[in-house]
Amino acid sequence: MRTLSGIQPSGTLHLGNYFGSIKPNLELSYTSNQSYFFIADLHSLTTLQDAVALRMAREAIILDYLACGFDPEKSVLYYQSQIPEHTELMWILSTVTPMGLLERAVSYKDKVEKGIKANAGLFSYPVLMAADILLYDANIVPVGRDQKQHVEMARDIAMKFNNTFGETLTVPEPKIREDSAVVPGTDGQKMSKSYGNTIPLFGDEKVIKKAIMAIVTDSKGVEESKDSDTCTIYKLHRLFLSKEEGKKLADRYKAGGLGYGDAKKMLFDACMDHFAPMRRKREELMKKSAFVLEVLREGNQKAQKTASLTMERVRKAVGLR
Ligand code: ADP
Ligand code: TRP
Repeated sequence: MRTLSGIQPSGTLHLGNYFGSIKPNLELSYTSNQSYFFIADLHSLTTLQDAVALRMAREAIILDYLACGFDPEKSVLYYQSQIPEHTELMWILSTVTPMGLLERAVSYKDKVEKGIKANAGLFSYPVLMAADILLYDANIVPVGRDQKQHVEMARDIAMKFNNTFGETLTVPEPKIREDSAVVPGTDGQKMSKSYGNTIPLFGDEKVIKKAIMAIVTDSKGVEESKDSDTCTIYKLHRLFLSKEEGKKLADRYKAGGLGYGDAKKMLFDACMDHFAPMRRKREELMKKSAFVLEVLREGNQKAQKTASLTMERVRKAVGLR
């Protein structure tokens, strides 16, 4: 089994990225034969057009992954843009991708609705994502629910390619973690870098506290009974708790006597406790730049080898060899 996951360096990583992507993917990587992790810097260009910000975000995410438990002995970590085969395969795949498939992409429509200016890159984003996946013969692609449709599109594109040119590409499957499929942001909508509603994973404690304190709630008073199912503070807090602990906390919400201010403080403490060891590791890694560069160099080398083999198969299948 080969797993693969990508993350866009379009800003600071947040709890949604951690629980929806980084944590489940790292856990899966410890038991799979091989896992590929990459920084989707080409995808970021569809919405982030600021060289300094992109460079900083790319470097920060490498440190984030290593701090969260990425194991360079077992898995592969690389920048998408370092492997030119991604864009070559994207072009070839775009010639078997029906326009209608792209027009149905929910994520594209969402982004446009949120006011992001559509460029051709944003529209063909799912084709590049299909190339990212198919290039490495990945069987399993663990993602948050928001990305499920993109992985299904990669499946459709792989099948279309195989039907047209003969069995060449591995058809991937999405894997969604139901318990954390959509992590809500401070406004209750899906947490996303593009929506300005995030709680950062690392960085200044004060910034994290401020974000948590800004979580939107209803106006129930301290003594009133509260519905944990609809409360964003609870939905976030539950991510740090076992099932039993989660149930106990839900009971406290229901019983009344727990104010939203205190609930937020409890969430902040849970968050700081959970990430304390990772924060320490990240600080140490910041002093070990040679090690970090070596992890990336090796990752790029391994990814390049696999990508070259697949691309050669594809070139032969379509008649470019
Ligand atoms: P963002 O929406 O903040 O730009 P990305 O699109 O870069 O985040 O997402 C990177 C990974 O994190 C993807 O696998 C995505 O499914 C996951 N992810 C992002 N936001 C959430 C969320 N709110 N809940 C669950 N998973 C998420
Ligand atoms: N589109 C993904 C996101 O925004 C990032 C991504 C790019 C990705 N290529 C991928 C995720 C391939 C999984 C597999 O979250």
